[in-house]
Amino acid sequence: MIIVVFFIILQKFWMKMKNVYIETYGCQMNQADSGIVAKVLKENNFNLVSTDKQADVILINTCAVRDNAEKRIHNRVHDLQSLKKKKPYLQIGILGCMAERLKESLVKEDKVDIVAGPDSYRKIAELIDNATKQYKQKHDLKHFEQSIDVELSKEETYEDIIPIELNTDGISAFISIMRGCENFCSYCVVPYTRGRERSRSYQSIVEQAENLFLQGYKDITLLGQNVNSYIYEENGEKINFAKLIEKVAQVNPLLRVRFATSHPKDISEELIDTIAKYDNICKYIHLPVQSGSNRMLEKMNRKYTVEDYKQKIEMIRKKIPDCALSTDVIAGFCSETIEDHRATMDIMSWVGYDSAYMFKYSERPGTLAAKKFDDDVSEEEKIRRLNEIIDLQRELSLQSNRKDIGKTFEVLVEGMSKRDENKYFGRTSQNKVVIFDKQNTRKGDYIKVKIDDCTSATLFGSIC
Ligand code: SAH
Ligand code: SF4
Ligand code: F3S
Repeated sequence: MIIVVFFIILQKFWMKMKNVYIETYGCQMNQADSGIVAKVLKENNFNLVSTDKQADVILINTCAVRDNAEKRIHNRVHDLQSLKKKKPYLQIGILGCMAERLKESLVKEDKVDIVAGPDSYRKIAELIDNATKQYKQKHDLKHFEQSIDVELSKEETYEDIIPIELNTDGISAFISIMRGCENFCSYCVVPYTRGRERSRSYQSIVEQAENLFLQGYKDITLLGQNVNSYIYEENGEKINFAKLIEKVAQVNPLLRVRFATSHPKDISEELIDTIAKYDNICKYIHLPVQSGSNRMLEKMNRKYTVEDYKQKIEMIRKKIPDCALSTDVIAGFCSETIEDHRATMDIMSWVGYDSAYMFKYSERPGTLAAKKFDDDVSEEEKIRRLNEIIDLQRELSLQSNRKDIGKTFEVLVEGMSKRDENKYFGRTSQNKVVIFDKQNTRKGDYIKVKIDDCTSATLFGSIC
C-alpha cells in the first residue's frame, strides 16, 4: 500500500514538475495569450523556463495570417525534431491560430504532441499530461487525439486569469480586451482561427490596468482585432470602446494608454473626442486602409470606401492635430491592376502615414478570396509592388520625422539603446522611437526631449 501511494506521488511529481518553454510568433494578441498560458501552467505546478534547452515541453504560439508565417513554424518544428532525437521525452506543442487551422494534421504531418487552439488554454496542463501518458504508451497514434483541443468558444475571454508578463521590460504591457473577429475580410483567416467576437468585462480590464500600474508599468495597449466594436453590457449599462478607454485612462494620468486595431468602418467621433480629451491616451491611431482602390476594398469586404476613409482621417486631423497615423497595406490582392496599386500609393501619400506594415497578398485556404477569386497577380509583380510601397513609406516616414526636428516631446524612458549603452531609448505619445543620452534618467521616467536629428525609423534628441 505504502509503495503504491509513494509511486502515485512520484508519478504526479514527475508529470507535473516539467519545465516548459513558451515561444511566441504573430500578433500582440498572441503575446498576451502566451501570458495566459504561462499563468495556467504555473497554477498547475509547471516550471516556466527561459530557453528551449532547459525544456521538457516546448509550446509554440503560432500565427496563420500569411503562408510565410506558417512556413517558419513548420521549419522550427522540423528543427526541434532533431532535438527530440537526443531528448526523446521532449514534447512539442502548437498553440494559437495555426493549431486552429491545421488541427490534427500537425500531429500527423509535423509529429507534434500537443495541439491547442486559442480558446483551449485553460486545458493546457491537461493536454500536456495526456501527451505524457501517450508517450508512455510508446507513441500509439490512436491516443494522439487526446492531446488535441481546438474547440472554439462563444464566451471564453479568460477574464479571470491574470496573465504572467513574459519577456517584459517592466514598462509596456498588453491587455486583451476582446477576442475573435466577425468582419470576414475576404483575404483574412482570423475569423476562422479566432472565432466569434466577444468582449471582456470592463471591470476586469480596469483592474488589470490598475495592477499593472501598481507594478510599475507605464504604457499599456488595449488589444482586439477591431477594438471599436468592443461592447460590454451589465445592469442596463452599455460600455463601448470610447467609455472603456476613458475608464482605463482615469486609472492614473501617468499611465499611457494605447490601442490596436481600429477598423476604419467603426472608428467613432466619440472615440476621437475621448483621445483628444486625455493627455495620457496616446496620440497615435493605427487605422489599416489595406488598399486605396474602391474596387479592391469592396472585393476585400472592408465595408468602407476611400472617401469614407479620408473623411475619418480629416476628422482625426481636425480634432487631434498632433495625432500620428499608421496603416496596414496589402499589395497584389486578387485582380489588382496597376491603377489599383497606384491608388494605394496615392492614399498613402495623401494621408502621409508616419509608419506602415506592408504585406504581399498570401492566399489563405478557406477564406472567401481563396474560394471565389483567382490569385492572379504573379509573385514577381507582388514583390515589385510591395517594394514600391515600402520605398514610398520610407520617404513618408522620413518626411514625418523631419517635421519633428526642433520640437520638444514628452518621452517615456523604456530602456537602453541597442547600439550604444550610454544612450537610452523611449517613445513619444505618437509612438515614435527617440534615442538620447542617458544622463540621470531611469527607465519609467517621463522626460522632455528636443529632437535634433532623424532617420526614417528613429528620432535623435537631447534632454531639455
Ligand atoms: N484586425 C486587423 C488586422 C489583423 S491581421 C485589421 O483589420 O486591421 C494584420 C494585417 O495582416 C491585416 O491588416 C492585413 O493587412 C494583413 N493580412 C491579413 N490577411 C492577409 C493575407 N491573406 N495576405 C497578406 N496580408 C494579410
Ligand atoms: Fe482579419 Fe478583417 Fe478581422 Fe482584421 S477585421 S482580423 S483583417 S477579418
Ligand atoms: Fe496571426 Fe492569429 Fe494574430 S493569425 S495575426 S496570430 S490573430
